[in-house]
Amino acid sequence: MSKAIVRPLESRDFEALMRLEEDVFAATGESTLGPYYIRLCCEFFAESCFLAEVDGEPVGYLLSFVNRGEAYCTTLAVIPRFQRSRVTLELLRAFMRRIVDHVDVCWFTVTEDNVAARSLHAMLGARETEVRSEFYGKGDKRIVSRIDRATFEALRPKYERLGLVERRVEAPVSGEHLRASLSEVASPSTPRSRSRARCPAPTVTAGRTCGG
Ligand SMILES: CC(C)(COP(=O)(O)OP(=O)(O)OC[C@H]1O[C@@H](n2cnc3c(N)ncnc32)[C@H](O)[C@@H]1OP(=O)(O)O)[C@@H](O)C(=O)NCCC(=O)NCCS
Repeated sequence: MSKAIVRPLESRDFEALMRLEEDVFAATGESTLGPYYIRLCCEFFAESCFLAEVDGEPVGYLLSFVNRGEAYCTTLAVIPRFQRSRVTLELLRAFMRRIVDHVDVCWFTVTEDNVAARSLHAMLGARETEVRSEFYGKGDKRIVSRIDRATFEALRPKYERLGLVERRVEAPVSGEHLRASLSEVASPSTPRSRSRARCPAPTVTAGRTCGG
């Protein structure tokens, strides 16, 4: 299988998204998102919504919304032919890179019987916190799960190992820090430990661009 290309939505993706909704959700008897919703995703929330293509064919998508430090991932879907492949991971990678350093909470909703989606949320560190009744209409029941900031930090090494986010890199030593270190060498009376405490190497996060 060729590698999946995942990118933020564009205006021209409207038709493809509508078709994917049919192929994934309508095909299993579930309701689909309407054209207004899909149009909004393509035009106004494109930087947190992603399309996966294999050899130019749209095969999966992830829709999410970021607002005041919170992300809400509403849809993750891959057409059956490409499920159990790397497409899902590639979509999650784009999503995690978009949110991990930008939000304090990420939440998902899922039906109890959706084992695959619940398993993916758990893999990302989401904790199931409540069940909401009538969430998407009469009789609808959703589990709400959340990843909080502390979990994002605690699981950062795992995300990096899985390639979901970029590795954090140490900041290069600045000229000022270098000069301080050199003067320390030149002046042996200065205790090393004190000098270190004065000039800690700052840690920065690489790759803060949106959209993966
Ligand atoms: C949710 C979805 C994107 C997962 O895609 P996928 O390619 O099957 O995901 P993966 O292969 O990475 O599998 C994820 C996990 O679910 C498990 N899983 C996948 N399909 C499963 C199934 N039919 N039954 C039980 N477990 C399943 C996998 O074993 C894996 O768990 P593991 O990491 O413990 O092994 C895909 O199933 C889908 O598009 N479903 C329809 C749309 C949907 O319901 N989306 C979620 C709500 S919006």
